[in-house]
This record gives sequence, structure tokens and C-alpha cells, in this order.
Amino acid sequence: MVEQIKQYTNTKWLGANIVYEECMDSTNTRAKLIGGGNVMENAVVVAKNQTAGRGRRGRNWISPEGNCYFSVMMKPDIQAENVSTITLVAALALTQTIEKVTGIKAQIKWPNDVVVDGKKVSGILTESSIGVDGLKYVVIGVGVNVNQKQFDTEIESMATSISLQTGNEVECAHVIGEFLNCFEELLEVFLKTEDMTVLIDRYNSLLVNRNQEVRIIDQGEWVGTALGINGKGQLLVSDIDGNVETVISGEVSVRGLYGYV
Ligand code: BTN
Repeated sequence: MVEQIKQYTNTKWLGANIVYEECMDSTNTRAKLIGGGNVMENAVVVAKNQTAGRGRRGRNWISPEGNCYFSVMMKPDIQAENVSTITLVAALALTQTIEKVTGIKAQIKWPNDVVVDGKKVSGILTESSIGVDGLKYVVIGVGVNVNQKQFDTEIESMATSISLQTGNEVECAHVIGEFLNCFEELLEVFLKTEDMTVLIDRYNSLLVNRNQEVRIIDQGEWVGTALGINGKGQLLVSDIDGNVETVISGEVSVRGLYGYV
């Protein structure tokens, strides 16, 4: 697997160290262990399947063989408050990756779900460790439904895979290798300003809920129109009276009025 990934990668620094095992509990959990040590920078942890894959909001990420499960661990020199924006950069990199590898167009459901044909094809779980001196490390964990042919009935209307969309099987090493190329290029842009100012138009053009009515689920619920992100990666939503509210990732859930996107 490591050699196969390297065949597709031409990065300068990202993915300098690739750790692969056929089965792990969670590549994020493993990457955090590596991040807590002092030996490895810019590691990518890859597994063929996970026994305790984790999703956002404490959910499980069911991880059968055939899909991609990997986590990038980095120690970027940025302000801790800006670290969560990296997750939007990763989503952007994934849409590019899917288009390059398969030719199909992927979009983003804010902040970081990647969707094809209105269904989720990939999820990202970003976790960081912040100490008194600032950011220690960040782990960006990516799960891509690559070769899965069937989903449980509760999620089949909301989930899809690359192979269901294209009719072809795809090599995970190709997806991971291309992701590292795209992610490194976008990270270099992000790291200059530590925000989305340069990437904002690219991100907004891929936003599946742009100019759509969305339901914001906070302590209560309200409906508005998603306008796009600002430089900090927050979602701007116009409410019924035309007031523009700023929605912060991680604090609320954003849903379409009729279904997932
Ligand atoms: C989501 O809920 O949408 C995020 C899912 C993230 C899953 C990936 S799979 C690789 C990495 N390891 C984990 O345990 N989770 C992430």
C-alpha cells in the first residue's frame, strides 16, 4: 500500500512518513498517538479497515474493507484559533481529488462533507491538541466511500460511493496519493494567511447549499438562505428578515429543508 500511494504522490513535504496497517481501531486515534510523540512530522496513517472508526458528533464511522480510511498528522506553525479552518481546505482538496481520479464532479456540504449527486461520499474528522504554547498537532481524518456497493437502509438515501457513481472500482492508493498532492498545494495557500481569503471563491463555487434554504439546528432551529463562507470559513446565512447571521462550524448542524443537502 505504501509503495502504491507513493506512485501517485509528488508532494514536497506532506506524506513524508506513511504508516500502514491492514486493520486499525481508528486511523485518527493512531495519528493522535504519533502527534503526541516527538519523532514524526507530517505523517499519514492508513488502514484497510477500522474496528472503531469515529465520525463527527461522537458518531461511529462504519469502516468495511474497500473504502479509504486515512489520517494526516501535521504540526503547522499557526494560531490555534485558526486550526479548525483546515477542515474546509481538506474538503476542497477532496473534491479536486475525486474529480482528478474519476472525472466526476463532487461538491461540498458546509463545512466539510463531500457529496456527489446530493449524497455523502466522504467525511472528515479534524481533531487537534492545543497546549499552553499553542497548537501541538492537528489530525485530519478522511473516510471516502470508494468501492462500497450497498449502504444500510437508514443511510442509503444519504450516502453513495465512487464506484456506485461511476460503475468502476477505484484503487484507494490512487485516491490517497492524489489527495496528498491536492491537499499540499492548497495548504501552502492556506498557511500564508491562515484563513480562506484566497480560496473562498473556489470553495463557494463548490458549495452544494449555496443560495439554498437551509435549516440551522442550534439550541433551537431556524431557516435561512446559505450565502457562502467568509474568510474564516464560517457560513453566512440570511434569515427571513434579510439579516445575515454567521454560523460557526462545530456549533450547529446545517441541513437542507428536504433531505440531506
Ligand atoms: C464524519 O462524521 O463525517 C467524519 C467521518 C470521518 C471518518 C474518518 S475514517 C478515517 C479517520 N479515522 C476515524 O476514526 N475517522 C476518520
